[in-house]
Amino acid sequence: MRIRKLYGIGAGPGDPELLTLKAYRILKEVDMIVAPKSREDKRSLALLTIEGIIKERGNGLIVVEPVFPMTKDRDKLEQYWEKARDAVLARAEAEAKAKGKGCETVAFVTLGDPSMYSTFYRFMEIFKDVVDEIEVVPGVTSFSACSAIAKVPVAEGNEIVSIVPDVKTQNALRVIESSDSLIFLKPKNMDVIENKLCNKKAILGVRVGFKDQEIITGEVSEIDVPTHYLSTLIVKNNPRA
Ligand SMILES: C[S@@+](CC[C@H](N)C(=O)[O-])C[C@H]1O[C@@H](n2cnc3c(N)ncnc32)[C@H](O)[C@@H]1O
Repeated sequence: MRIRKLYGIGAGPGDPELLTLKAYRILKEVDMIVAPKSREDKRSLALLTIEGIIKERGNGLIVVEPVFPMTKDRDKLEQYWEKARDAVLARAEAEAKAKGKGCETVAFVTLGDPSMYSTFYRFMEIFKDVVDEIEVVPGVTSFSACSAIAKVPVAEGNEIVSIVPDVKTQNALRVIESSDSLIFLKPKNMDVIENKLCNKKAILGVRVGFKDQEIITGEVSEIDVPTHYLSTLIVKNNPRA
């Protein structure tokens, strides 16, 4: 079974209006949409973002939601990747048998932008032996959306920006000290962040772009960060360096 074209689509942070025109056009045309979710009993957030398109497309569209659990256990992850590959190829084959035509185009949708900590590039690796062509469509990142809503720029002038996915590494601690502006994804270990950046200006975006989004601004020490997966913290360490 071969796939003519695989798209990696950035669906933006959650607001369907932040989907690019290109992403919209492709999602209206593809044979199959693949949207990863973190648990069997959860919905894919990327899919939630594009649910209007899914409804418009109706029954003709194949949607596959493989589970990619949030674990650092490589062996466990490999098993899930294998399962995802089998599920996608099985659906594509079933479609080919039922309709007498192959499943030619597949779009993998990811929250925000595919270049930022997305599972898309791993997906691409796993499928590259059965795919003829690949195209990646960028999306609006979570931190661009937070910055826009708070009306605070991520960086200006010569400011150096760092993105920190995990504060508990030596590298992160070094970068926190040397960057003018910081973006913390899924911020946890707030004690470490508070220790280093206590009175600096912060913007916390929770579920940005979704109906229940929250934007909280203040000094780092005043911000009560929920241990919510969908939250992004921007801290201005040394504005306008
Ligand atoms: C695996 S990273 C993916 C980042 C994504 N590719 C992007 O470009 O924004 C997931 C993290 O992005 C942030 N994030 C993604 N969407 C968000 C949203 N709608 N609101 C707040 N933070 C979000 C959170 O920090 C979350 O833990």
